[in-house]
Amino acid sequence: MAKKVLLSGIQATGKLHFGNYFGAMKQNIDLANSGEYEAYIFIADYHALTTVKDKDLLISSTYEIAAAYIACGLDLTKAKLFRQSQVPEHTELTVVLNNVVTMPYLMRAHAFKDHEAKDKEVNVGLFDYPVLMAADILIYKADVVPVGADQKQHIEYARDIAGFYNRAWNVEEFPLPKEVILESVATIPGVDGEKMSKSKGNVISLFGSDEEVKKAVMGIVTDSASPEEKKDPHTNNIYNIHKHFLNDEEVLLLRTKFEQGGYGYKAAKDDLLITIMRWREGRKEVFDELMANPAKIQAILEDGGTQARAKAQLTIQEVRGQIGL
Ligand code: TRP
Repeated sequence: MAKKVLLSGIQATGKLHFGNYFGAMKQNIDLANSGEYEAYIFIADYHALTTVKDKDLLISSTYEIAAAYIACGLDLTKAKLFRQSQVPEHTELTVVLNNVVTMPYLMRAHAFKDHEAKDKEVNVGLFDYPVLMAADILIYKADVVPVGADQKQHIEYARDIAGFYNRAWNVEEFPLPKEVILESVATIPGVDGEKMSKSKGNVISLFGSDEEVKKAVMGIVTDSASPEEKKDPHTNNIYNIHKHFLNDEEVLLLRTKFEQGGYGYKAAKDDLLITIMRWREGRKEVFDELMANPAKIQAILEDGGTQARAKAQLTIQEVRGQIGL
């Protein structure tokens, strides 16, 4: 039996942090490396255009994501790693799908509503974001799209849009991507306890300098409990970040330390910093080496993109045939 198709994208909009890693990259890597899927992992550079209007930033973010995936262990024999724009069929399918999607439907999208509520300008790229994302998924006929909880609506849209297309032309082109994994993927808190995100400025950088990481960790917000006091780990930002790096046994140990008292926030931050530095050992070297050698990254993406495009072209040919283009 053919393997199930797994697909995931990550938007190229700036420096990566541990929220990106634990919230998306890690599970993408684990699933792809399992070898159980025909896996497509791409850098969503068309999507990034909704916000990024800086060529150098777009290129450096793209390379950074590619290098990070490799440094974090993505097995390139098991996954095709590429940039979305290498496969222009994503946009061709978007143009087609736009004709089965209504404006009121897109006006119910969270991202659109948030922008409206904040009186921010909405460009058409942002308005159409869910359709491009549906095209990303449908062009490979993906079965499994591992995403964090914040992307749930986008997957529902992709499923709806697959149905809209099939019904409009009375075909069975797109399987509904229903076998979507929405595991309780980590929403990792930032140094202020809010969801870690670049726009909130509360991130711990994945591959930034040691000083940058240290500064972020030491800046984690805590209450004013003294070292002797017993502490509730669950309301504690240091614990809530640290636990993602640990196995069950180690989590238990850490929890006990907080609960017993005698474990101050300074010591807890020092321990977290050690854990993070250990995590970076090896990985950061691979990352830095790749970033110093963009031709190598380029070649890897070239290879992944060529393979992905071959598959996307098959779908577009079918679509063109079905609709009369
Ligand atoms: N919207 C996703 C995010 O912000 C990125 C993305 C674009 C994506 N296309 C995708 C994720 C297709 C999964 C599948 O994280």
